[in-house]
Amino acid sequence: MHVIVTGGSSGIGLEVARLYAGRGARLTLVARDPVKLENARRELLCSGHIQDTDLHVAMADVGRDSDISAAIADAEARLGPCDLLVASAGIVEPGPFETIPSEGFDRQVTTNLLGTANAVRAVYAGMKARGRGRIMIVSSGAALIGLHGYTAYCASKSALTGFAEALAFEAAGSGVGISICFPPDTFTAQLERELAKRSPQAQALMGKAPPWTAPAVARRIVGAIDRGTPKLYFGFSITALGLFGSLIKPVLMWWYTRKRS
Ligand SMILES: NC(=O)c1ccc[n+]([C@@H]2O[C@H](COP(=O)([O-])OP(=O)(O)OC[C@H]3O[C@@H](n4cnc5c(N)ncnc54)[C@H](OP(=O)(O)O)[C@@H]3O)[C@@H](O)[C@H]2O)c1
Repeated sequence: MHVIVTGGSSGIGLEVARLYAGRGARLTLVARDPVKLENARRELLCSGHIQDTDLHVAMADVGRDSDISAAIADAEARLGPCDLLVASAGIVEPGPFETIPSEGFDRQVTTNLLGTANAVRAVYAGMKARGRGRIMIVSSGAALIGLHGYTAYCASKSALTGFAEALAFEAAGSGVGISICFPPDTFTAQLERELAKRSPQAQALMGKAPPWTAPAVARRIVGAIDRGTPKLYFGFSITALGLFGSLIKPVLMWWYTRKRS
C-alpha cells in the first residue's frame, strides 16, 4: 500500500504517516522545508517500522499545481500507484480581515483549498482508472463556524467541504472513496504559532476545550479511513456544529452580539 501524506513532515500529517509506517505501508511525505522533511524521515526510520526503500520524501509546494503533480508522479514511479492520499498540508495566519494583507489571505486560500485540490488532482485520475483508492482531506473545526480573526482560514477550510461533497458525488461507484475530517485544536507547531495571534473573541469560543494531541487525532483519522467514514468530527462541540450547525450558529451569534452590545 502506497500512502502519500501532504504536510507529512509535521504535526497531524506526520502522526498519520507514523501509523501507516507501523502497518507496513510504503510512504511518501510531501512538504516544502527540506530540513523538516529530513527530520521526519529520520524519525520514521528510527521507529524501525519502515525501511529506507519504502520511504520517500518530496519537496513541493501544494499551492503550485505543476510542483505537486510532478512530485506525486515521481513518488508513484518510485513506490507504485497511490492507494491513499491524506491531504494534511495547511496553514493559518489569524488576524482581523482589514489587517491581513491580500498576499496573506491568498496564501491561506491557495495552500488550504487550491493546494488540496492540486494534490487530489495528481492522484485522482489514476485511482479512478484503477477502480480503487481513498482520499482523506484534512479540514478543520473552523470550517463549521465563522471565527473572529479567521476569515481566510474559515473560508478556505469550509470550501473544502463543498469540494469533498461534490467530488464524492462524482466518485460514487468508481471505487474511489472521498472523506473529509474536521480536527479540533491540536498540539502541533501550527497551533503554537496560531495561539500567539488568536483574538480573545475567538479564544472565548474555541478555548473552552483543551487541545487534542496529534497522535490522538491521527488515530481517529486512520480509523475513519479504515471504515470509509465520509465525514469525521471530533469531540462534542465540533460534532454538534457538524450535525446541527444551522440551528446552533444563530443562537451563538445572538449570544455573541448581545455580549458585545
Ligand atoms: N493544529 C490544529 O489545531 C489544527 C486544527 C484543525 C485543523 N488543522 C489542520 O491540520 C492540518 C495539519 O496541521 P498541523 O497542525 O499538523 O500543522 P503543522 O504541524 O504546522 O504541519 C503542517 C504541514 O503542512 C506542510 N505545509 C504547509 N504549507 C505547505 C505547502 N504550501 N505545501 C506543502 N506542504 C505544506 C508543512 O511543512 P512545510 O511548512 O515545510 O511546507 C507541515 O508538514 C492543516 O491542514 C491544518 O489546517 C490543524
